[in-house]
Amino acid sequence: MDQQLPSQQKKRLVVGMSGASGVTLAIQLLRIMKECPDWETHLVISKGAQTTIALETDYAMNQVEQLATAVYDIGDHGGNIASGTFHTAGMIIIPCSMKTVAGIACGYSDNLLLRAADVTLKERRTLVLVPRESPLSTIHLRNMLALAEAGAFLMPPVAPYYSGVNSLEEMNLQIIGKVLDKFGIELNGFKRWRN
Ligand SMILES: Cc1cc2nc3c(=O)[nH]c(=O)nc-3n(C[C@H](O)[C@H](O)[C@H](O)COP(=O)(O)O)c2cc1C
Repeated sequence: MDQQLPSQQKKRLVVGMSGASGVTLAIQLLRIMKECPDWETHLVISKGAQTTIALETDYAMNQVEQLATAVYDIGDHGGNIASGTFHTAGMIIIPCSMKTVAGIACGYSDNLLLRAADVTLKERRTLVLVPRESPLSTIHLRNMLALAEAGAFLMPPVAPYYSGVNSLEEMNLQIIGKVLDKFGIELNGFKRWRN
């Protein structure tokens, strides 16, 4: 049986949800992380994501929030994750809108999600963005290049055609598996090439 670590020894993952399409990715990721006994999730949801949650899912906000260990208000600039002294393994922004990409690329931290991403970069921690837009303008591409140069992983939700997926949930699982791999989290059902 898995030994539960005391809370202070658990690893912390900051999860940001912004207003790009694809919020089921974040919800599925949070559901998976809730089953990981060694990890805490620290969740911040943008106003844009509140809209997409309502439009794309049957989840009420409190049902999404209940999937996380801790939830922060987007306007709470003094929340734990706003400080580099609050130790985390890093941050995932899933899905990540082009507005949020632009905000991080410019260091324009006018909400807690942007500030937490800024902190993740300045502390040289792992920052994974799941940007979702099509087509991409030169502005989007320049912002993403700046972020890649600053050390972030840009992992758009690319369909895994070779994995034999039969549903949106199975497709999401392959995308999430690749994202969590960046934090050393092994996901049941994640298919590695020729493994
Ligand atoms: C249904 C819906 C889908 C959207 N999809 C995207 C998207 O895929 N990518 C994107 O960059 N913006 C998308 N947007 C626009 C963003 O939500 C909008 O730019 C918002 O201001 C982003 O703010 P945030 O990053 O603070 O959440 C979408 C908006 C709505 C209402």
